[in-house]
Amino acid sequence: MTSPNVPTLQLNNGTTIPQLGFGVFKVDPEETTRIVTDALEVGYRHIDTAAIYGNEVGVGQALAASGIPREELYVTTKLWNDRQTDAPAAFDESLDKLGLDYVDLYLIHWPLPQRETYVQAWKALEKIAESGRAKSIGVSNFLVPQLEKVLAETGVVPVVNQIELHPAHQQPAVTAYSREHGIQIESWGPLGQGKYPLLELPVITAAAEAHGKTPAQVVIRWHLQSGFIVFPKSNRRERMAENLDVFDFELTDAEVASITALESAGRVGADPNEVN
Ligand SMILES: NC(=O)c1ccc[n+]([C@@H]2O[C@H](COP(=O)([O-])OP(=O)(O)OC[C@H]3O[C@@H](n4cnc5c(N)ncnc54)[C@H](OP(=O)(O)O)[C@@H]3O)[C@@H](O)[C@H]2O)c1
Repeated sequence: MTSPNVPTLQLNNGTTIPQLGFGVFKVDPEETTRIVTDALEVGYRHIDTAAIYGNEVGVGQALAASGIPREELYVTTKLWNDRQTDAPAAFDESLDKLGLDYVDLYLIHWPLPQRETYVQAWKALEKIAESGRAKSIGVSNFLVPQLEKVLAETGVVPVVNQIELHPAHQQPAVTAYSREHGIQIESWGPLGQGKYPLLELPVITAAAEAHGKTPAQVVIRWHLQSGFIVFPKSNRRERMAENLDVFDFELTDAEVASITALESAGRVGADPNEVN
C-alpha cells in the first residue's frame, strides 16, 4: 500500500482534513466494497459518501477489511433531504451502515430552502457533534442566504460547504462568503462529472502537455492550488492512481489564472434553489 503525502487543511473547529480524497457518488452498491478497497490500496484515506448513495454498507466493509487504523481514515457522510426533521435517527442509521463509532464529518446534503427545515437539521447536527459521534459538521449546496441564516440563528459555523465547483462553475459569491466566515470549500463534481468537456479544453490540455501530466491531473491540481478540498470519483483503479498522483508538479500562477478564467456558469448538477 502507498500513502502519498496528501496535505491537510485546517478546519474552524481545530480539526484537519486531507485535502484530496475519493468520492463514491454513483458507485454501485454491489461494487462499492471492491472499488473502495481499490481506492484504499491505491492510497486514499479520505472517503466521501452519503446516505442517498446507498453504498454506506460497502464503504464500511472496505474500511473494516483494510485493517487501516481508524484514526488514519477520514470519512464523510450526509443527511438526505427527507430526513431533515429526523436527523438524529438518520445519523444513527448511517453510522450503523458504515459500521463506525463516529464519522469525521457529517453534512446536510441540500438546503431545500422552500421547506425551511435546514436550521432545525443544523441544530440536530450540533447535538450529534457534541456527542462526539461526528467530529465535525458542515453543509452542502448552501448558498449565501442559507449560510447567513444558519450563522444568525445558531452561531455555529459549518466547517465546510460542499458545492459543485470546477473551472467552468466556480460559484464565486458563495465561495467568497464561505471563506470570509472560515468555512472551507469542498468541490463536488471536480472534473465536471464527465458531463462538461473540461478535459478537452485547450487551456487544460496545454498545461497537461507542459507538465507531462494528464488533463484530469491538471484540473485536480487547480483545485488543490486554489485551496479547495477535492475527492474525484472513479470506478477504475488506474484512474484512482492517476487522480492521486498530483504531488510531483505545480501549475504556474499563470496556468492557475488561465484555468480560473474558464468560468462560464457551466453548472452540471442541480440548482440548490430548485432542489426541494
Ligand atoms: N454534495 C453533493 O450534492 C454532491 C453531488 C455530487 C457529487 N458529490 C461528491 O463529489 C464526488 C466527486 O464528484 P462526482 O463523482 O460527481 O464527479 P467527478 O469526480 O467530477 O467526475 C467523475 C467522472 O469522471 C470520470 N473520471 C474520473 N477520473 C478520471 C480521469 N482521470 N480521467 C478521465 N475521466 C475521469 C469518472 O469516470 P470513471 O468512474 O469511469 O473513471 C466519472 O464519470 C462524488 O463522488 C461525491 O462524493 C457530492
